[in-house]
Amino acid sequence: MEHEETTPSVAYELRRRILDFWWSAAGQEVTLRMRESTLSRGAIAAVDAAQSMLHVRQLETPIGTYPCATVRATDVLAVEFERPWLLECPLPPPPPPDSGGHTAWVRAAAAAVCPPAASEAPADEARSSAVAPAVACRLLACRGACHEQWDGRRRETHKYWKQRYHLFKSFDKGVLLDREGWFSVTPQAIARHIARRCQSDVIIDAFTGAGGNAIQFARTCSHVIAIDIDASRLRLARHNAAVYGVADRIEFIHGDFLALAPRLAADVVFLSPPWGGPDYASAPVFDLDTMMGGLDGAEILRASLRVAPNVGYFLPKNVDVGRVEELAAELCDGALELEECVGVNSQVKALMAYYGFTEDEEEW
Ligand SMILES: C[S@@+](CC[C@H](N)C(=O)[O-])C[C@H]1O[C@@H](n2cnc3c(N)ncnc32)[C@H](O)[C@@H]1O
Repeated sequence: MEHEETTPSVAYELRRRILDFWWSAAGQEVTLRMRESTLSRGAIAAVDAAQSMLHVRQLETPIGTYPCATVRATDVLAVEFERPWLLECPLPPPPPPDSGGHTAWVRAAAAAVCPPAASEAPADEARSSAVAPAVACRLLACRGACHEQWDGRRRETHKYWKQRYHLFKSFDKGVLLDREGWFSVTPQAIARHIARRCQSDVIIDAFTGAGGNAIQFARTCSHVIAIDIDASRLRLARHNAAVYGVADRIEFIHGDFLALAPRLAADVVFLSPPWGGPDYASAPVFDLDTMMGGLDGAEILRASLRVAPNVGYFLPKNVDVGRVEELAAELCDGALELEECVGVNSQVKALMAYYGFTEDEEEW
């Protein structure tokens, strides 16, 4: 075969393909054939940019199982994937022909695949910046979020792991969750329904979490502003939005919604604040004012109705409905619609309270 010189554009293409491959491979279950003739099973978490180290979750080795392990690539003879999967990754544009050769390109690519800093900028900066490009290479995005990611197969979250395709239909394409994300993400079918109901121009997802709702809003609303107080969870949301191909339609803002609210305006605000952990369900009645994970649930609603005329509030199924109605009477002339959100096994999972939302009511 004739020797071909590795031009910057060929190097670009090769690097693009390998990043694409590892981005897509993350989360896949694999068997590693090791040099010492042993087999180890686990799930790929990430690979360093030089591909010298594999980070593997739940690595089962002959001497035990490691929840998170780093394996030297030189110790691995082969990586066998347990099932085929689709390669899906938005890609950075090729470098211009006169970009100064390989080194310049590598830098450009690194800049392109790193999660943009806008997510952690103060609200004003984030709003004025360009919307984050739809380039979030999982391989490198993993670096920032690695310690927060949670393997859903662990005992604590195994119940949710079994429902992973209800939570995210495209789970296998590389969705990442942290521990709280496993407990709190809105299942995709419910999020999809809420998104249809909240269809509007500008929507604010005030408590974005790992992105279950924001991703669906990106399909029904022209512009989504996704806020979360936890920067690492917001990175997971951005990553998951990229998995669903909608990251470029969402503006991610790191901050406290209540602090940001006076500077925001939208058509709809969606509220899905923390319910204080999985124990919320054991209370006979959920008190909206005091049990919202340390926040005042009524104050959140008041602040939201100053931002938008319509507020969707995702509430626990055992919420005090009398109080929900009382707030509607106090804050929006009683304009309230309640809806049960039904999850797997036809069980009621939550209650949606739509405050305002008067115009298109008959459509629903
Ligand atoms: C129940 S989770 C949201 C789940 C989300 N709807 C989903 O489907 O992935 C609540 C989120 O609210 C965030 N949060 C808590 N207090 C906040 C605040 N004051 N401002 C913004 N986000 C906050 C938490 O970090 C958490 O990610």
